[in-house]
Amino acid sequence: MTASDPNRIIIFDTTLRDGEQALPQSLSARQKLQIALALEQLGVDVIETGFPVSSQGDFESVQGIARVLRRAVPCGLSRAVAGDIDACAKALSVAERFRIHTFIATSEIHVKDKLRKDFSQILEMGVEAVKRARRYTDDVEFSCEDAGRTPIDHLCRMVEAAIAAGATTVNIPDTVGFTLPEEFGGIITTLYNRVPNIDKAVISVHCHNDLGMATANSLTAVMHGARQIECCMNGLGERAGNCSLEEVAMAIRLREAYMGGVHTGIVAKNIARTSGLVAKICNEPVPPHKAIVGSNAFAHSSGIHQDGVLKNRETYEILTPESVGFTGNTMRMTARSGRHMIRACLRNLGYEDDSYDLNEIYARFLKLADKKGQVFDYDLEALLFFSTLDEEEEENAFELDHISVMSGGSHSIPTASVRLRVGKRTRTESSIGNGPIDAVYNCITRLTGIRCQLTSFTITANGAGMDALGQVNVTVDYDGRIFHGMGMSVDIVEAAALALIHAANSIDRAAKIRESRKAPQEDAVPAMNTP
Ligand code: KIV
Ligand code: ZN
Repeated sequence: MTASDPNRIIIFDTTLRDGEQALPQSLSARQKLQIALALEQLGVDVIETGFPVSSQGDFESVQGIARVLRRAVPCGLSRAVAGDIDACAKALSVAERFRIHTFIATSEIHVKDKLRKDFSQILEMGVEAVKRARRYTDDVEFSCEDAGRTPIDHLCRMVEAAIAAGATTVNIPDTVGFTLPEEFGGIITTLYNRVPNIDKAVISVHCHNDLGMATANSLTAVMHGARQIECCMNGLGERAGNCSLEEVAMAIRLREAYMGGVHTGIVAKNIARTSGLVAKICNEPVPPHKAIVGSNAFAHSSGIHQDGVLKNRETYEILTPESVGFTGNTMRMTARSGRHMIRACLRNLGYEDDSYDLNEIYARFLKLADKKGQVFDYDLEALLFFSTLDEEEEENAFELDHISVMSGGSHSIPTASVRLRVGKRTRTESSIGNGPIDAVYNCITRLTGIRCQLTSFTITANGAGMDALGQVNVTVDYDGRIFHGMGMSVDIVEAAALALIHAANSIDRAAKIRESRKAPQEDAVPAMNTP
């Protein structure tokens, strides 16, 4: 909320504090700075940069970020104790404006069992903390930790006292993600009804996702008057995570009218980039089904859905992938895809509708999809091409014959030797690399002569324990077209080699098809659409 715009929702990002504290490893100051700059470009209003008193490293990282932020307000967390608040102020005071966020728990279980105090002592500590923070800045946020489970009378008293002491933002965290949306909204309404000085502060919410309610609770709170949402990119955060930034931002954007005209300053088209950056730096891949930023979020698999999207994408897409910065939706060709999808894909590849028998191709596609799971456009093209030539099984151009790798210790240079069958000949190459897989990939690139860009690489264990088979999936970009490869072996380096060779064979086959399309034999190859 700003003085001029009561419908503006302040986005307070805590990826670098609540998000980072839940990672198995901590981030370096440089990594945090990179994330902070991306968050600023995303349009976040306040960035919780860390917990300065927790370590010298965190102190310096908070200070480094506070120095470079231009538009977003840097904020630091402190318990309601003098030393924390002073450390926060010291780290942040390199910035022209900054926020100190101080908190204390208010629920009975936290007050009695964790802090071993009574509520009147908590009330006093909260008030003293806010007053101390106000000595350093006029932007002070106070949080009632575990507000969701705090008796409402205590919560009202604490909020009133914190505002009277000078808090400009009062945060109501559902620390353990216990409340349900209407219940949480009711807490916000009660605060508005019962706290006499509530209009002197911005009411903020900070919801955790233990019951999967973080986004719903935050949005409901906004409908009941909250004007700041605390959230993390990709929903990172303690345990099941915090409210996810991209979900609330896009929900508010899409449902602005339903929500009474509220809006944020988030630049939606920077969401994909920021999400990817956070996932990479934090080493926390985004789950495929994650709303807004998961790889499946804009993928259509069922035949009925694909048919609808081909006719009008709004049938099954409430927002476009482009609107959050992705390059386009994905139509997955699987056994659930219908004829419309196959025809659309072949049209994209340049084949006229009457140049092949759709029913026949579709029947063969279904067989392949059952065998392979996902079918790619080059598979479909090969199916079309080889069916016309009546050439069902073609020998692969490349086949792994032998692989050996030397890598160990921090001082040795990873070295690989790979022997491949290339057509009818066997050839060997050796190479060094940044790691064993890089060395193997350098050999394969030289042996196949195919220079492609690795766009994704994943390893999964098939099975449990020592006998597990490593499965490597790669996608590569060759000449602007995406090819997929999969390899499986007890040795992950060999699985990686097999995956790249698999992709190389598909690239080689697609290239042969392209070649023969350049010099079409009568009735042998389907005709291209002329532009
Ligand atoms: O979950 C929580 O209550 C917190 C507070 C420090 C705001 O993270
Ligand atoms: Zn939290």
